[in-house]
Amino acid sequence: MDSEFPYALTPLPEEAQTKLKAKFLGFSGGLVDVEGRHTMPAHYARFAKQYFDYEFQDDDVLVMTFPRSGTTWTQEIVWTMRNQVDVDTASKVPLDARVPFIEFDSLYPEHLPLSAPIEEAFRKRHPGEDPREKGVFLDLVNALPSPRTIKTHLPFSLFKPDLLDKCKVVYVARNPKDVCVSFYHQQRLVKVAEFSGDFPEYVDFWTQDLLLRAPYWSHLAEGWARRHHPNVLFLFYEDMKENILGELGRLNTFLGTGLMESQLHTVAQHTSFSGMKSRGTTNPTAALQEAGEFKKGEAGFIRKGTTGDWTNFFTPELEEKFQKWMEKWQPTSQEIPFKYHIKKPE
Ligand code: A3P
Repeated sequence: MDSEFPYALTPLPEEAQTKLKAKFLGFSGGLVDVEGRHTMPAHYARFAKQYFDYEFQDDDVLVMTFPRSGTTWTQEIVWTMRNQVDVDTASKVPLDARVPFIEFDSLYPEHLPLSAPIEEAFRKRHPGEDPREKGVFLDLVNALPSPRTIKTHLPFSLFKPDLLDKCKVVYVARNPKDVCVSFYHQQRLVKVAEFSGDFPEYVDFWTQDLLLRAPYWSHLAEGWARRHHPNVLFLFYEDMKENILGELGRLNTFLGTGLMESQLHTVAQHTSFSGMKSRGTTNPTAALQEAGEFKKGEAGFIRKGTTGDWTNFFTPELEEKFQKWMEKWQPTSQEIPFKYHIKKPE
């Protein structure tokens, strides 16, 4: 049943928009704030209610994260586990076709052409309908056979409150310093954002929560609050780095996939950093640079895959700024036990 979209979408204040547009060339259409819980491009307004009302199926699994927290890694793991460790298909079919990104229509720049095969498939399924209006990426989710695994960066509250009665959510969190460094590189790479500044300038935006998808801590707070729900598995990127087989074991139980130890080893191997970086199905950097969606000359979408890379970017001044931001977001920023270093050698 349809319900009202319960939040106001408010364009960010003029001053903030001007500051953002000067450095993020991809934000020319402006950003909207969803009552302090999320920040999206203005055309999210066209889709917000559709996402909120989306009728999930009881065998759907959502991979939900704040960006740069290990989404792609977890998508590949969950898909492979839920598809009888079919690493052959996983190595041939792009991940974003197997585990579609439900809200990508609301991010995809309006001035860029849609990819021809995606638009063509949409037009075949919906003759005469407008792909931009209806949403080609949302349509990919609708067209996916069960059991579906779906990616989202939207926080829980931007879906209907009964989401967890309908399906399971794997929520992945990563320490904010490594997310900040990773997001900085990704925002320089993707044309959706096209950040043109340096890292200190990025931290300036970050610590004011002036970012696409911000605020980080409200997203995390929503996930953390649901961590004991039987249909939520809350994972940390750092734990996955430290002990992937242990975390695959937890996923095996949560997803009910019943894989044997040897199969979990295959999943771990298939989803290793070097494996995923080298495969075009999980690391589309070169293809999307050619297609014009990614900027050339920037770090790749799958970049370094370590914990503690932040130490290479944070000066004492930036750390102090970050610390103040963390204090502003207490108690959540204190409650979630993040690791900023891990024991395992990288
Ligand atoms: P870095 O930029 O620190 O390298 P997301 O998929 O949520 O956008 O997260 C991207 C981050 O996860 C990037 O971090 C990326 O390199 C890392 N990543 C991707 N695949 C990984 C893997 N198999 N193992 C470890 N890290 C991975």
